[in-house]
Amino acid sequence: MFDSQVFVEEKVAEMRERIPGKAVIACSGGVDSTVAAVLVDRAIGERLLTVYVDTGLMRQGETEHVRGTFDKLGLHYKMVEAGQEFFAALKGHTDPERKRKAIGERFIRVFEREAKAFGAEFLVQGTIAPDWIESGDGVRDTIKSHHNVGGLPKDMSLKLVEPLWDLYKDEVRQVARHLRVEVSERQPFPGPALAIRVIGEADEESVRVVREACAIVEQELEAASEKGAMVRPWQYFAVLLPVQSVGVQGDRRAYGRTVAIRSVESVDGMTAAFSRIPYDVLERISLRITNEMKANVNRVVYDITHKPPATIEWE
Ligand code: XMP
Repeated sequence: MFDSQVFVEEKVAEMRERIPGKAVIACSGGVDSTVAAVLVDRAIGERLLTVYVDTGLMRQGETEHVRGTFDKLGLHYKMVEAGQEFFAALKGHTDPERKRKAIGERFIRVFEREAKAFGAEFLVQGTIAPDWIESGDGVRDTIKSHHNVGGLPKDMSLKLVEPLWDLYKDEVRQVARHLRVEVSERQPFPGPALAIRVIGEADEESVRVVREACAIVEQELEAASEKGAMVRPWQYFAVLLPVQSVGVQGDRRAYGRTVAIRSVESVDGMTAAFSRIPYDVLERISLRITNEMKANVNRVVYDITHKPPATIEWE
C-alpha cells in the first residue's frame, strides 16, 4: 500500500541530500509540478526558485489562479511572460511530435535563462510514471513524447531531479492531499497545454478559440455535476479541428470550424473510457459554443472513443 506520509518524509530527506546548491522548477500549477515544488521547497526552502512560464497556451484564468496557489503555499516564485516566444517556436508546425518537441525545447531554454539568472545548477521536474512509460523507454514504442521527457535537449546544462518519477496519478493526488496542495482535485492538464488541443498549427487565434471552448466545456460539466445531473468526469476539454463544414446562419450559408468535445473516465490516464454525458448537458455545451463564441464555429461533435485504441488527448 502506498503511504503518502512515508513518501513525503523520505523524499524530502533525499532531496535535501541530492540538491546541495540552488534549483529551479518549472511549475505549471498542475498537480504534478506543484507537488514536486512543495516537496523540494520543504527540503531546501529559498534555494528553490519556482518558475511559472506564461506560454500563452494556458487555460482561461490560469495565470491568476496559479499566482494565488503559489502565494498560499508560500513558495519562492517568479512568473515569466513568454507567449510570443512560444508562438514563434510553433509557427509552421503541424506534426504533433514536432509541436511537442518545439514546446519542450522552448521550455528548457526559458528555464535555462531563469536558472542562470538565479545561479541554479539543478532542474526539478514533476515527471510521473505514465510520462516516461509512454515516451518510450527503448522497449516500448514512443506513443507521445511528453514534453518533460521527450523534449529535453542533449546539451542541457542543468542536472535533472525528478522526485515523482515512480508515482502514478492517483498516488500524486494522495501526496497532494497530504501536503494540503489545493490543486489536488483539479483535472489533469498536459504540459504542452492548449497547443495540442488545436489540431494542426497552433497560432495565437486558434489557441484563443480552443481556450474559450475549453472554458465552456469545463463550466457546463462542473455545473451539471454540482447539480447532481452527473458525476464530474476525470478529464474534459475541447479540441479545435482543422475541418470546416457547411452550415446555415439565419438564411445564409455558413462555412465554419469544428470543435470536438472530449471527456473521459480514468484512474491513472493509462486507459480511459469516454464519459456518458447526459444529452441535455451536451446540448447546452453545443449551443454555447456555437452561439456565444466570437469565433466562427458551426459544428460540435462528441468523441466516443476509449483509450485504447485512442489516447485521451488528440495529439
Ligand atoms: P494521453 O493523451 O497520452 O494522456 O492518453 C494521458 C494523460 O496525460 C496527459 N498528458 C500529458 N501530461 N505532459 C503531461 O504532463 C504531456 O506532454 C502530456 N500529454 C498528455 C493527458 O492530458 C492525460 O491526462
